[in-house]
Amino acid sequence: SHARISVDADRPIGSIDRRMYGVLVEHLGRCVYTGIFEPDHPTADADGFRRDVMELVKELGVTIARYPGGNFVSNYRWEDGVGPVAERPSRLELAWHSIETNAFGLDEFMTWCAKADVEPMMAINLGTRGEEDAINILEYTNGVCSTEYADKRRANGHEDAYNVRMWCLGNEMDGPWQVGHKNAEDYAYLAGSTARAMKMIDQDLELVACGSSAWEMPTFGDWERTVLELNYDEVDFISMHRYVDPDTQDRASFLAAGYDMDRFIEGIIATADAVGAKKRSTKKIQISVDEWNVWRLSKWNSIEHGFDPADWPVAPKRIEDVYTAADALALGGMLISLLRHADRVKTACIAQLVNVIAPIMTEKGGRAWRQTTFHPFAIGSRIARGTAYDAVVETASTPTERYGDVDQVDAVVTWDKETGTGSLLALNRSLTDSADLTAALASLGVSRVIEAQILAPADLDAVNTADEPDAVVPVSHPVAIADGVLTTTLPPASWLAVELG
Ligand code: AHR
Repeated sequence: SHARISVDADRPIGSIDRRMYGVLVEHLGRCVYTGIFEPDHPTADADGFRRDVMELVKELGVTIARYPGGNFVSNYRWEDGVGPVAERPSRLELAWHSIETNAFGLDEFMTWCAKADVEPMMAINLGTRGEEDAINILEYTNGVCSTEYADKRRANGHEDAYNVRMWCLGNEMDGPWQVGHKNAEDYAYLAGSTARAMKMIDQDLELVACGSSAWEMPTFGDWERTVLELNYDEVDFISMHRYVDPDTQDRASFLAAGYDMDRFIEGIIATADAVGAKKRSTKKIQISVDEWNVWRLSKWNSIEHGFDPADWPVAPKRIEDVYTAADALALGGMLISLLRHADRVKTACIAQLVNVIAPIMTEKGGRAWRQTTFHPFAIGSRIARGTAYDAVVETASTPTERYGDVDQVDAVVTWDKETGTGSLLALNRSLTDSADLTAALASLGVSRVIEAQILAPADLDAVNTADEPDAVVPVSHPVAIADGVLTTTLPPASWLAVELG
């Protein structure tokens, strides 16, 4: 088939926030321990951080890291993780049924962020805790006066405040699995009073209220409305979490994960704006997609989730999904959707960073490698910056069981005026048909192709492993450009990334 892309240079979608390329670092399984932190590892630096992982994190292009959870945060006492390591208590960790040793905590995370050149984004515990602990942790991280918690930070060797800007008011509080789960109204009151207290310390903090942990949640919509009706002036972001499970749908629907993401994001925008309209507010609530990924959640729920009640392991293997080539395509499609909503999606965190449903895998004491999903994220972070433009695509449709007919080709275009570079990201969702693509990009000032890479796997089930880490990698792809018109062919089931100049 043929696909024709046009872009209106005078009507950008919006600027792409640098925080679009975030990750979640949760105390879950081996994300922290034997993931980013392993003092005994041959590559460990003086702080115990794995250098091999650090290099991959930099290559991945991570800009912001949400910490320490995830579900973990809702039963976490942050003070356990600061001060002399030998004096830190071990605790039962309820969310993932393990022992938390607290060998790694807030200060270690901040040091890791500084070394990785990543902005920290903190989540606070609104499951078992409330306003007082939120104020205390804020004082510890950001306090500049001589007060108890700021002085503790100094005593722990961190003279300068960390000045953390983004704070999540709890995690997935709509989920019955969450420790301290609440109904929308109870959460909204707690989030609001916590937000007000935090903003009494620093009114410029960027606060994220919990939205829905999935689109399928029965409370979706009403939850966001209730939370925002009570807190429209207090918060800046509403969160959304989106995981797609390849095992619960046909492959064509799975490759249309971006279509599903579009509808979820647009549902939240509609809900948030309806609240804003009723309040006659000029303020727009932004969206923090602070967990998104492919996750074989049905497998986790049915097979792995049977925690042995007597077993409380330290840093066990938990949800270490191995990603296929098809997963990388779906993730690339979800990234296109996020960029298409760059006017409202200002933060997005792939969940998670290492080992736990992650782009980076490690062996304890051994190797580190890139999963298939590493590649679309890393390429996006490197080339899709600046301003997002709506790529209007005239394309054939392709059938899916879940969504009916969807556009065969989905795409987004970005352009960064400062560097004079940009990108075209395009997904061919058809499992059977190639697409001859033309894209009219002259109005943006595009004149050349710097590089074109494609994921067009011969085997959609192929995976990367420690022994075969490069089984699925992007390869260079022929793309021509003449008078600002780009031409190429997209093979079936492929994700193309063109760096433009
Ligand atoms: O990322 C794994 C888990 O998914 C997180 O802990 C939780 O927030 C979500 O349900």
